[in-house]
This record gives sequence, structure tokens and C-alpha cells, in this order.
Amino acid sequence: MRQKILITGGAGFIGYHLARYLLGTTTAKIVLVDNLFRGRMDGALKELLKNHRVTFLNLDLTDARAYLRLGSGYDHVYHLAAVNGTGIFYDMPHEVMRINTATVLYFLEWFRKKNSCGKILFTSSNEAYAGGLSSFGQLPIPTPENVPLVIADTYNPRWTYAGTKALGELFMIHCAQMYKFRGVIVRPHNFYGPRAGYNHVIPELSLRIAARVEPFPIYGATDTRSFCYIDDAVRAMVLLMESTKTDGLPIETVHIGVNEETPIRDLAEKLFEVAGWKPKKLQIHDAPQGSVARRLGDVQKIKNLVGWVGEVSLHEGLKRTYEWYAEHPDTAMKGEKIKVFV
Ligand SMILES: NC(=O)c1ccc[n+]([C@@H]2O[C@H](COP(=O)([O-])OP(=O)(O)OC[C@H]3O[C@@H](n4cnc5c(N)ncnc54)[C@H](O)[C@@H]3O)[C@@H](O)[C@H]2O)c1
Repeated sequence: MRQKILITGGAGFIGYHLARYLLGTTTAKIVLVDNLFRGRMDGALKELLKNHRVTFLNLDLTDARAYLRLGSGYDHVYHLAAVNGTGIFYDMPHEVMRINTATVLYFLEWFRKKNSCGKILFTSSNEAYAGGLSSFGQLPIPTPENVPLVIADTYNPRWTYAGTKALGELFMIHCAQMYKFRGVIVRPHNFYGPRAGYNHVIPELSLRIAARVEPFPIYGATDTRSFCYIDDAVRAMVLLMESTKTDGLPIETVHIGVNEETPIRDLAEKLFEVAGWKPKKLQIHDAPQGSVARRLGDVQKIKNLVGWVGEVSLHEGLKRTYEWYAEHPDTAMKGEKIKVFV
């Protein structure tokens, strides 16, 4: 029988690319769920929905009644729906708390009752452990999965998101343990690529380059991140979902990312190179309060488990991404204000 796969947050960045990848590599029926809070019903998604194997449900997963329309008996469920994007954490931290917690709570309840043979993948974040880096400073870099999860400052809105991801991990681990379902927690480390929205560092830099902004501002220039191209990222998620090595209890938590630390200033320089344009003057600004200076996930575990390593070089990934943003200079992303945070 044909596999049934559900992707929540399916209109968003990762969800859309994941659905495309699964369409190309499986014969499964794919259901995408999203309330279009941030994802968009744009040309790319409409094109995807022309495939008879894909269905789209416009549902708000913070509403308990929505679950009556989700159906049951999915083989694989990718639970990605959440409010994401650093600017949003500062603009509406209370909504980040409400939405990211309610969607996990209701979703796991639905999953365990309606999908007795299914397996679930939950997207946490590297933000979940980032507070430990800024608070104690002595965590190892690259940072492995098993470090403490720390909320560095409950008064800084930035940490609301990290709090919901830490809670999500706890829900996943202990519900799986209690109800004996299969699952895996992944922590994405700065996935990037086309159609990622406009409220992330690479889209923001790309749009400013395409608009030839002078002088050219760079925020948090010395902060470092590791950037993982979206095609590699969704391949990693599917490998983890399909592997029997992630079927046991307690469920595994796995970093997805690349072992390459890039300062934001170098990232901007690489994008200038890709775009064939360089500003005459740079305006270097501090990162916002609460931004973590260095972040590099240890990605040895995913290599050991499923043999995955990122294959797309930063240069190639930035080239593909810049070209997409140069062709799609639309800054009117619903629910987003354009800010320039890492
Ligand atoms: N992109 C990254 O590098 C990254 C890093 C760390 C964690 N993550 C996590 O991965 C997941 C997907 O991230 P993304 O980059 O695709 O983000 P995204 O914002 O593009 O996608 C999330 C989708 O969830 C939808 N959504 C939000 N609230 C909803 C609700 N109540 N009901 C239904 N749908 C709802 C949004 O409309 C959006 O389309 C998120 O959980 C995010 O926190 C992503």
C-alpha cells in the first residue's frame, strides 16, 4: 500500500522543500498542513499542489477542532509547524509561546491516538542549547546533543522560542516513553536556501545586495553560525525518519548541520562574491542583545547513525540562494517585518 506522510508547517521553508524531496524519492501520498501564518500559497507551492499525490489543508493547529480533519494512520509525520524567525521573537513573544506550545501539545495527543504504527519527527532548534553557550561559555564547540538546555534570560523575548523548543523536546521524549511510539528529535542548524522567507540573515543580505544598498549594514559581524543548504537538510531529515536506528526508546535527539563555522562578515563577503558586487562602505553594527556569539553543532552523531554529511558547498548554496532572492525581491511576507538580525 502507498505510504501516507504528513508534514505540518508544509507551506513554510523546510516543509515545502521536504515535500518536493519526498515527491521525487517516494511514491507516498503527502498531506501538507499550514495556517499560512508565515508560509505562503505562492507560485511554487501551487505548482507542487498540482501533483495528485499532494493535498493541502489550511488548518490552525492551535485549535483542537482542527485535528478532526487531519485523518489518521500516517506512516511518517514531520511536525514542523511553529513560529520561527528572530524578528518575530521580539515582536510577539507571547504568541511564540502560545503557538509553539499548543501545537506540540495537541499534535502529540492526536498523533499517539490516531497513528498507532506511525513515526514522528519533531524539529527543535539549536536555540534550545544556545543559552548554555552564552551563560556558561565553557560548553564545547562543536556542541554535542547532550548538553544542558538553558534559558539565558527569561526577560529577553528572544528566549521564548528556545523555551518552547526545550519544552517540545521534553514532550516528545516523555510522551514517546509513556505511549511507546517511534520518533526522533532534530535540531536544525541554520538551514538556508531559496524560498526561506525574508526574515533571516541570508535573505536579508541577499536582498540588500540585489538592491545595491550603500553604505551596507552588517549586524553581528563577528558572530559565527554554520549554514546547511536545504537540499542536504531535507535529505538528512528523511534518512533519520526512515532509519530503523532511530526506532528505539528513549528517542534520539540529533543535530543536523555542517561542520563549518562562518562569521557573519565572511558570509556577507561570500555573498558579494557570488553577486559580483561589493559595496564601497560597510556599516558594522552589534548583534541584538541575547545573540549568541559562536554556534557550531557537533554533527558526528548523524554521520554515525545514517552516514549523512552535507554535500552542497557554502559557495554553491549561496549562489543558488542569492539567484533566487534576486529574482524574488518581495519583502511583503505576511506576518513579518524586515529586520536585520542573525
Ligand atoms: N530554518 C531553520 O534553519 C530552522 C532552524 C531551527 C529550527 N527550525 C524549526 O523547523 C521548523 C520549520 O522551520 P521553517 O524554517 O520551515 O519555518 P517556517 O516559518 O518557514 O515554517 C513554519 C510553518 O509553520 C506554519 N505554522 C505556524 N503556526 C501554525 C499553526 N498554528 N498551525 C499550522 N501551521 C502553522 C507557518 O505558517 C509556517 O509556514 C520550525 O519548527 C522551526 O522552529 C528551523
